[in-house]
Amino acid sequence: MSVNGSRVVSVGHYQPEKILTNDDLAKMVDTNDEWIVSRVGIKERRIAAEGQKVADLAIEAARQALENGGFTAADIDMVIVATVSAKDLCPNTACRVSDALGIGAPAAIDINTACSGFEYALAQADMAIRTGATRRALVIGAECLSAVTDWEDRSSCVLFGDGAGAVVVEGTDDPELAISPVLWGSEPSMSDVIRIEEDVPFIKQAGQTVFRWATTQLAPLIEQVAERAGLKVNELAAFVPHQANLRIIQGIAKRLDFNDDCVVAEDIVYSGNTSAASVPLALSKLVQSGKVASGAPILLFGFGGGLTYAGQVIRCP
Ligand SMILES: CC(C)(COP(=O)(O)OP(=O)(O)OC[C@H]1O[C@@H](n2cnc3c(N)ncnc32)[C@H](O)[C@@H]1OP(=O)(O)O)[C@@H](O)C(=O)NCCC(=O)NCCS
Repeated sequence: MSVNGSRVVSVGHYQPEKILTNDDLAKMVDTNDEWIVSRVGIKERRIAAEGQKVADLAIEAARQALENGGFTAADIDMVIVATVSAKDLCPNTACRVSDALGIGAPAAIDINTACSGFEYALAQADMAIRTGATRRALVIGAECLSAVTDWEDRSSCVLFGDGAGAVVVEGTDDPELAISPVLWGSEPSMSDVIRIEEDVPFIKQAGQTVFRWATTQLAPLIEQVAERAGLKVNELAAFVPHQANLRIIQGIAKRLDFNDDCVVAEDIVYSGNTSAASVPLALSKLVQSGKVASGAPILLFGFGGGLTYAGQVIRCP
């Protein structure tokens, strides 16, 4: 088969069992369900069990993506994990996932561009497949943000959750089905507005600055993502943005000329902000819901720490 691009052929996700509701949080810090729902739209989030690490979540999501596509470990020759919360520096999470799943000798890469990590990772896999360096890739976004959350800071602890999403990507000879060229970039002058640093290893952010940036700057970039796929936003079947705040998602969607039947992912309500995991998690649930027809265009867009952003259009597997 001649390869004219790559396409997402299966999806999977995993969330820890423990549910943390807004009422649970109200017993921990001075907050309440009304404030959280009205400011961010989150009702509950999942929290990893004691000892459960980023790699453990990534492994489960990857296993699901393999099973859902009917693949075995032998079918994969690249594993990329996007994460901002893996605490182990070596081995990287991709090697841990590969070992656990019995993937023999893959290119094994971790990427950290915070909340846009999955889209950066997907672009890397796409390019590797286009060049012939890779045949079939597992691309994963996985986070244990609970491990980098200050549980005494009500302005941040209500926002985050844990989880993982994964996709399998392989070559296609049909340009119609291929992942579109990525639009990616950053605003390094705003590096300080979201931080997890050595001396204060918890997520700290200037929430209103990020909110303003997201709601005023991103809509034109999202239109450009669609243009790179040769589409207008009103031709999209679904929009899966980073799940940072329901008001941001709805604010961006309002500025874009989506058709009434375009499905906008709002997984944040039940998952919170899971950084690099949020888009593949929401995508996997969307695909499994059957709301989007196979082959229909879905625009993915991540944004966050860095500040970084990236997006592309995929076709629903
Ligand atoms: C974080 C965010 C939800 C905060 O909402 P906000 O409307 O900006 O709220 P503010 O921080 O201005 O706080 C407003 C008030 O609520 C209070 N407050 C903060 N957290 C609270 C909580 N959990 N419960 C109750 N009150 C809270 C503040 O102390 C403040 O009180 P004051 O007016 O008496 O000083 C919002 O700014 C946001 O979502 N920003 C974008 C974050 C983002 O996308 N990050 C990307 C990460 S990838």
